[in-house]
Amino acid sequence: MNLKNMDVVSIRDFNREQIEEILDLSRKMVPYARGEKVSRMLDGRILGNLFFEPSTRTRLSFESAANRLGARVIDVSQVSTTSISKGETLADTIRMVEAYSDVIVLRHPHEGAARLAANFSSKPVINAGDGAGSHPTQTLLDLFTVQEEKGSIDGMNVVILGDLKYGRTVHSLAEALTLFGAKLTFVAPPALQMPLETVKHVESMGGEIKIASDMKDVISDADVLYVTRIQRERFPDPTEYQKVAGMYRVDIDALREAKKDLIVLHPLPRIDEIDPEVDATPHACYFRQAFNGIPVRMALLAMLLGGEL
Ligand code: NCD
Repeated sequence: MNLKNMDVVSIRDFNREQIEEILDLSRKMVPYARGEKVSRMLDGRILGNLFFEPSTRTRLSFESAANRLGARVIDVSQVSTTSISKGETLADTIRMVEAYSDVIVLRHPHEGAARLAANFSSKPVINAGDGAGSHPTQTLLDLFTVQEEKGSIDGMNVVILGDLKYGRTVHSLAEALTLFGAKLTFVAPPALQMPLETVKHVESMGGEIKIASDMKDVISDADVLYVTRIQRERFPDPTEYQKVAGMYRVDIDALREAKKDLIVLHPLPRIDEIDPEVDATPHACYFRQAFNGIPVRMALLAMLLGGEL
């Protein structure tokens, strides 16, 4: 399947077969991601990393993934150091970065920014998070993690807990899990439930959704618990944030009724929604999940840029 030069703006850009192909190549990339094998597959290529919002994992793992395959990275991580601070439009900035690189990775505070960038660039644009919109490459690594840890995604009971309104990772994830036959339960403070648009899309795909307001009621059936932080920076009104801050927390006690082989995932960063005491339990998978960003992004870059192992 040819993904060469494709933009990755939304997880809806892929069908199941294409995602499976990315996950298969990701598995082959693991020894390269660990530095046990060496590949120069993307020698001479340049990745442009544009991060107009804070990031640790996504930016560094794209950079590491490119470097592991022999590509180089140019990057901007602060608007204040670019001509955007002089008033340049995103469209013009993208036209420049397109001329300086072979693939553009963009994180931006506005929903729709990646789509706009893709329209202005003839080089592939990868959405690394657009406001409260979506985060398709996080979803690819989330799927890869479930598949590696559980052996399959089909039929899994996945509980998604947290800020489902503003958390972009869960929007892409809910749709992709449905494509793979998982069953979804959304647990959130009522003001932060999943946007109707995503719910409708999942239902139109034939997905099963349960809604709960307390994790206690649903934890015993879960195979996967995906936790997210409350996205404080997206609240228009700080007093609204104060009303929901600290409303849920996963600790050992909350997992008492869980299956022995339940896995707990989190896109990270975590604030206070998973107690560090959970880290030492066999449930905790979030640090392995963060590592998986490297092989998955290596696979994606290889496929978009047409490299062969
Ligand atoms: C997420 C994001 O930026 O959407 N982080 C990440 O990429 N791993 C999650 C978050 O910020 O809460």
